[in-house]
Amino acid sequence: MSSLKKILVTGGAGYIGSHTIVELLMSRPGCEVISIDNFSNPNTLRDMMQRVKAVTGREVKNYAIDICDMKELRGVFEANPGIDGVIHFAAFKSVPESVADPQKYFNNNIGSLENILECLKLYGVKNFIFSSSCSVYGDSKLVRVDEESPLGKAASPYAETKQKGEEAVKKFSAANQGIASISLRYFNPVGAYVSEKGSIGESSKLTSNLVPIIVSVAAGRRKELVVYGTDYDTTDGTCIRDYIHVSDIASAHVAALEYLAAGKAFSNYSVINLGTGNGVSVLEAIAAFEKATGQKLNYSMGPRRDGDVPAVYSVNRKAVELLGWNPKHSLEDMMRTAWTWEQSSS
Ligand code: WQD
Repeated sequence: MSSLKKILVTGGAGYIGSHTIVELLMSRPGCEVISIDNFSNPNTLRDMMQRVKAVTGREVKNYAIDICDMKELRGVFEANPGIDGVIHFAAFKSVPESVADPQKYFNNNIGSLENILECLKLYGVKNFIFSSSCSVYGDSKLVRVDEESPLGKAASPYAETKQKGEEAVKKFSAANQGIASISLRYFNPVGAYVSEKGSIGESSKLTSNLVPIIVSVAAGRRKELVVYGTDYDTTDGTCIRDYIHVSDIASAHVAALEYLAAGKAFSNYSVINLGTGNGVSVLEAIAAFEKATGQKLNYSMGPRRDGDVPAVYSVNRKAVELLGWNPKHSLEDMMRTAWTWEQSSS
């Protein structure tokens, strides 16, 4: 990462953002990282930069500004000249909240992205990574999706902001050949970075996601897990997803920055799936948790949840071949680290 000395991470105190900062600092000690995070996500831990310092020994300055405020955003770029790359995680990401208030999601998620893209041009930043999501595949009937798979209708305004965000980055790249960009489509990030120096993760207090709910039920913070739907046309009737350890997602961001900086990319815009390529059902995830932790989980079967697709998981060949990346963590690692984080943070 010789030509990448200074990286700006927006949403740096968030779940994937903080893991990516840890991965950048641990694997590229010569790299300086700056973060922007205004803690608007209630699940974001306010002491995250202290946790990052405990784990890496490195100070990361965080600017608690609103990226939708162009004056404030430009102030960060002006205070930190020579930024080589930007990773843009910052966005609202609650599916139910996006349904309740779509305008808030479009204004924030698209507005912040447009400001970031403008600053790439204004401040000569040559490498950009956009945080996208497998939710762009929408209600595609395909189960195993690659980057050329047609995108279905977005299941929520959140997912639509990711579809529109990718379109904006694609058009920006076509008009700015000197700037290289990648949209990374995360499947289901789970787990946590745990070490003897400390750990980082996300708060599971306000989540609707499976794995944080599993660990909070096991910790006795929630009464039971309800399995949403057992009558799907899948191996055991429950939904299938591609769970991937958040540290594997983080290492893919480092590999993607290096890929961009190396200038070997065939075009200046790529879309890349980040998943393990394995489909796991809800019941299989529960069994993996119980096996990895020895905890017996209290769960019951319930009705389907609106908006859930029966099964979706990735073809990750492009990430493997272009980025030279491979997910390292098993499903049991994901469950074990999620459980360790829950116990250390509750
Ligand atoms: C997974 C499965 C539920 C809770 C994710 C996130 C996000 C995005 C990918 C990037 C589903 C079932 C859940 C519960 C359950 N990635 N479940 N009981 O819906 O795939 O959404 O999409 O943006 O990671 O938005 O993840 O964890 O909510 O659900 O049975 O109490 O677990 O029905 O089948 P999902 P999830």
